[in-house]
Amino acid sequence: MSSKPIKGIILAGGLGTRLRPLTRITNKHLLPVYDKPMIFYPIQTLVDAGIHDILIVTGGNNAGDFLRLIGNGKDFGLDRINYAYQEGEGGIAQALGLAEPFARGHRIVVILGDNLVEKGIVPGVRKFQQLDKGALVYLKKLADPRPYGVPVFKKGQIIDIEEKPKKPKSEYAVIGIYMYDENVFDMIRTLKPSKRNELEVTDLNNAYIKKGQLHHEVLPGWWADAGESFEALLETNQMVARTRKNPTS
Ligand code: DAU
Repeated sequence: MSSKPIKGIILAGGLGTRLRPLTRITNKHLLPVYDKPMIFYPIQTLVDAGIHDILIVTGGNNAGDFLRLIGNGKDFGLDRINYAYQEGEGGIAQALGLAEPFARGHRIVVILGDNLVEKGIVPGVRKFQQLDKGALVYLKKLADPRPYGVPVFKKGQIIDIEEKPKKPKSEYAVIGIYMYDENVFDMIRTLKPSKRNELEVTDLNNAYIKKGQLHHEVLPGWWADAGESFEALLETNQMVARTRKNPTS
């Protein structure tokens, strides 16, 4: 267990090519989801989990709009938000590496800027705080997990994660919420670019598996990867609207 406060990192770089032309003149994470810009949801998820020291990593031509929109985080009761800029699209783990000056020596909770959850992440953060070391990933059971990282299980433990497998070996997706101990930045330095020339978060998680240090938690409520496709964006808008009108708990 670490006594230093956990820091939060939201990854909102990338070019959002799957959502063009919506993303031609703005960043994917600034698109509307019901009554708020997409990026508001992961920020609120961190704040609701008690994480108030937050860095947003963004990129592209519209990075300045994040500052204009969010400023110091007053909408979330914060008095400061930190920003970093990713040049190009070198992958999720590369974007995370840019957080090192902000988070070195701390444990971190990372949320992909297009990942929304219904019920928050408090149980996962609590479990992570109890661990001596290692990482924790959140899983969600899906009818078709092929577009995501998919865990392979043996005796209830994750022994491998396959990125976007054609034949998934389980019914779960590793969603875009990750918790890492203080070693994460050293581990990122050991990664090699994948076939699509990115530093992959799945390779980072597999490196923790090799050390026998990857834990998991299953997410209650709905989960959305709003940036996956036009359909996902539409469905996420509808789920948020329904939940706002009929909160379950
Ligand atoms: O949403 C969960 C999935 O996210 C996981 O199941 C996969 O294992 C993981 O690889 C990732 O898959 P995606 O194909 O959905 O990743 P995508 O390229 O859409 O990037 C997700 C977010 O990460 C995006 O909203 C912004 C951020 N990102 C991505 C890249 C490639 C960056 O900040 N920088 C980058 O270079």
